[in-house]
Amino acid sequence: MPELDWVGKKAVLNHHREVPFHLLKCNKSLSVGDAGSGNLLVQGDNLLALKALLPYYAGKVKCIYIDPPYNTGNENWVYNDNVNSPEIRRWLRKTVGKEGDDLSRHDKWLCMMYPRLSLLRNFLTEDGVILISLDETELAHLRLMLDEVFGKANFIGSFVWNTRNTDNRVKTYLSPDHEYIIAYGRSHGASILGRRIDRSDFKNPDNDPRGPYVTDPLTGKATATERPNLHAYNMEQPGTSNVWKPDPAKGWITDEAGYRALLADNRIWWPPNPARGKPRKKRFLSETQERMPASSFWTEFRALSGAKEVGDILGRRVFAFPKPISVIQKVIDHCAPPDCIVLDSFAGTGTTAHAVLAQNTADGGSRRFIVVEMDEAISRDVTAQRIRKAIEGYGDTPGLGGGFRYCTLGAGLFDQAGNISPEVRFADLAAHIYFTETGEPIPKRAGRTPLLGVHNGTAIYLLFNGVLGDKRPDGGNVLTSITLAGLPQHDGPKTVYGEGCRLSPPRLKRERVTFKQVPYGIKVT
Ligand SMILES: C[S@@+](CC[C@H](N)C(=O)[O-])C[C@H]1O[C@@H](n2cnc3c(N)ncnc32)[C@H](O)[C@@H]1O
Repeated sequence: MPELDWVGKKAVLNHHREVPFHLLKCNKSLSVGDAGSGNLLVQGDNLLALKALLPYYAGKVKCIYIDPPYNTGNENWVYNDNVNSPEIRRWLRKTVGKEGDDLSRHDKWLCMMYPRLSLLRNFLTEDGVILISLDETELAHLRLMLDEVFGKANFIGSFVWNTRNTDNRVKTYLSPDHEYIIAYGRSHGASILGRRIDRSDFKNPDNDPRGPYVTDPLTGKATATERPNLHAYNMEQPGTSNVWKPDPAKGWITDEAGYRALLADNRIWWPPNPARGKPRKKRFLSETQERMPASSFWTEFRALSGAKEVGDILGRRVFAFPKPISVIQKVIDHCAPPDCIVLDSFAGTGTTAHAVLAQNTADGGSRRFIVVEMDEAISRDVTAQRIRKAIEGYGDTPGLGGGFRYCTLGAGLFDQAGNISPEVRFADLAAHIYFTETGEPIPKRAGRTPLLGVHNGTAIYLLFNGVLGDKRPDGGNVLTSITLAGLPQHDGPKTVYGEGCRLSPPRLKRERVTFKQVPYGIKVT
């Protein structure tokens, strides 16, 4: 398989594994509405933010939509589109080393994207889909990179959408009027949902007892030489003298036996004016799936301006090119089932969050969003405010309801020396340990219990912060005969994390306990 190489690639290939885990701190004053809605806006570099979210959402997200910087090199945008923001420059220098100073802007973009895409993949359910907006600047690079990160076989396809209805005079003789949304699945089985059928297209002109239907052509695609049996008969409308011969270049879609079966079952629609139409096959609403294949070509958004939409919501122009909300709503309708989590780690003005709320209102869904924006001012003054207005309403536009929690990145889970940071609570460490031990998010637990969950038959326990009620040093955080007896029962192997262990190796073996010492036995990345 052809592979893409670029300066700095080696440095970032495994970088996502080395990114330290951080805590997420909730900011109540910037949060809005129902805190239990499951919606989240995280302010911070998405590399750290995604790593912080992973223990809670790994393998749980059905739909990721991202709109990363296109890397056009256009410095006039409100946000830097050329991967030169101070945060990313600092990050590149730290991660790629001195070489980071000399990277071309394409190398920088690829270095920035690779570890983030690698992390994003871990969020997807087996049947989940990632969709990425892009123009042609990095398209070829991105496709090769996605082949590497997601697997070539998991490429689903590209949506192409018409972005404008006036000439785009950035090039002399070619006006780029479209952008791409590239879709990959987590696995080969991943599929997009397709588009909803439009019920109003279905009619019942001849009162067929099977109800309304649309019609599909009966004309085929093969010549008489290729498929003689599809040219071997005429179609004759019963009770009339109307006859249709097969098109010599195309024939019919079925042979004579198939035609007779359709005829016997009254599945052929006859044109009212035989000189101007051809027989067609009925397709009944009652026999049609709710969804049809999604067209890859979207023309209906050409007159829309995301900047105007956001300007109308916030009362001021803040962003040059946010996406029109209906584009993202269409992405969500096609790719995010009604009860899933939608993740966008390049949130910008928060169009994805707004589109999730709008689509829920449109189809009664209960999708939740997680969006991440690095720029503090954008996140606080634009993203959060836009989503707040969407929830509460603005002008004559009624609110869509719901709420979200606003979070920032807190301390690292571990300090430089590998000790657990003082801010870390039992629930934080529990989520981290369960995730690093199993690769899965911690299951919901009933109340305060040292039993984090059972995975593949092994129970995982954590003794930390005196979870058993004994907070003395050398007390409840240490595995002794007493604390072992106090653990919720499990008939099978046990992994116990604690600050110390007073049980002998033969006793541990008898009890089928693997002991791991906190913090040294905890995987840090
Ligand atoms: C192209 S804009 C997204 C626009 C968005 N789809 C909308 O409709 O408003 C990209 C956004 O990603 C943000 N961004 C860039 N690098 C980031 C990073 N490493 N982590 C989080 N956000 C980042 C930028 O600040 C910018 O707001």
